[in-house]
Amino acid sequence: MNIRISPFVVIAALLVAGPGGLGLPFAVSTAAAADKGAARVIEITGNDQMKFSVAAIEAKAGEDLKVVFTNVGTLPKEAMGHNWVLLKAGADVNAFATAAMTAKATDYIPPAHKDKVIAHTPVLGPKGKAEVSFKAPAAGTYTYICSFPGHYMIMRGTLTVK
Ligand code: CO
Repeated sequence: MNIRISPFVVIAALLVAGPGGLGLPFAVSTAAAADKGAARVIEITGNDQMKFSVAAIEAKAGEDLKVVFTNVGTLPKEAMGHNWVLLKAGADVNAFATAAMTAKATDYIPPAHKDKVIAHTPVLGPKGKAEVSFKAPAAGTYTYICSFPGHYMIMRGTLTVK
């Protein structure tokens, strides 16, 4: 038997399931789904070695993106928590990360530098998972970091928008 899944069926399934309800790769990779505004999912993990699994992301300006971030480590959150923080172009990464060190109360997003953030997840403990959706900003190069104290020099990557 020859089974074809029509794009309309996929869209209908997405509508029924609601945003993020299905999470199936085929659904978000079809052109039909993209036309309906489904975000491209980017899976990133952070581990006990202070490494992001993805060090470089490319996107088109205005593209809908959804970062799904998972802490795959086992160390306690207080010792090895991780978040994913995308900063605006021209943001002073060192200044942001330095201020973040004393911003535990606001999940290591320093209030005085909040306007430098495009998107971020909460700080996650072991096996924690969070997602954040945003539109790719204007063409340029953007840095993302983990702003947990002491991590940003190693835990960082680049979003390149074309
Ligand atoms: Co970290």
